[in-house]
Amino acid sequence: MTEIEAWRQRRHESSESAFTRLSLLGASPIFRETLRVIERIADVDATVLIQGDTGTGKELAARALHYLSRRREFPFIPVNCGALPDNLLESELFGHERGAFTDAKSSSRGLVAQAEGGTLLLDEVEAMSPRAQVVLLRFLQDHTYRPVGGRQVANSDLRIVASSNIDLEGMVRRGEFRRDLLFRLSILNVTMPPLCERGRDVVLLAEHFLDRFATQYERSRKRLHARSIAWLLSHDWPGNIRELENLMLREFLLADGEVIRIGAAQLADAEADCARIDADETFKSAKARAIAEFEKNYLRHLLTEACGNVSLAARISQKDRSTLNKLVKKHGLASDRFRTGSPRNPR
Ligand SMILES: Nc1ncnc2c1ncn2[C@@H]1O[C@H](COP(=O)(O)OP(=O)(O)OP(=O)(O)O)[C@@H](O)[C@H]1O
Ligand SMILES: [Mg+2]
Repeated sequence: MTEIEAWRQRRHESSESAFTRLSLLGASPIFRETLRVIERIADVDATVLIQGDTGTGKELAARALHYLSRRREFPFIPVNCGALPDNLLESELFGHERGAFTDAKSSSRGLVAQAEGGTLLLDEVEAMSPRAQVVLLRFLQDHTYRPVGGRQVANSDLRIVASSNIDLEGMVRRGEFRRDLLFRLSILNVTMPPLCERGRDVVLLAEHFLDRFATQYERSRKRLHARSIAWLLSHDWPGNIRELENLMLREFLLADGEVIRIGAAQLADAEADCARIDADETFKSAKARAIAEFEKNYLRHLLTEACGNVSLAARISQKDRSTLNKLVKKHGLASDRFRTGSPRNPR
């Protein structure tokens, strides 16, 4: 192995362990390619724009960029751009001197100074007001700034990473985002793939979350029913990994046994229960039990399909909404247990 190959190998191993430490998990080719890009650009100091749908792991990717860079010993400071008020923008970013404005009882370091030496993540950069965009553009030009009420111009040494879940190019075309700012931000680019394009990563991630919850809640581990796996693979995950994480937490907390049943797995149970007839049971009670079990499992399946939306469930099942509500109550099924985001295949 040549020296450069050995160096590459060492570097790759350190990235692998950083990705694992940050729980940035996934084995699908599309995701591995994203990790390769992160690994390659982590130590380059240029500005990075991370784009991807909601919940795809943009913030984790930004952390990975930071912890793989030479700046890792310095702070990583995330800023939610949507929450920066226009009137306090410069003060939040660049800090202020004592008495700079009415409420400035003491001087304060801004976010840029807090991130000195490290990485400043401009999260949800698409939410920046036109004025904020101008302020940021000016700062990006030479990384100098002046605290509000201060005389001295300060130099900053930090790396800027921005993230957006809206296509900024489209916003530029619609006149909602400055083109010159987009150029400055997107010197390097990372695109987080949606979960539905990541194949079996959904199963790997679901199992990772179940393991994590077992440790966190000090409960026994739970596993996925084979049909739950099929369901996970068929769902389109509009809320991506965050949606999966929330669903797994709810299923983990509510599951009776050690097997997690979602979607078709619940129906499979229903079929099995309905088929079971006790030898000494009367026809009448066996029928009543089978109907009750059928109703309960039909409703579970229906509410899963409709993501807990009773009106939609009523339309799908062609039952009257209030009758359906009564049935849901009778079987002790709270419809909000089934809320996972947007309904699957609404008909
Ligand atoms: N590859 C991954 N492996 C394990 N967990 C992940 C992965 N990517 C994201 N997560 C988890 O999913 C959740 C959402 O991730 P994150 O906050 O980074 O997404 P985001 O793209 O910034 O979301 P948003 O657009 O809503 O801000 C977090 O709890 C995060 O820990
Ligand atoms: Mg985020």
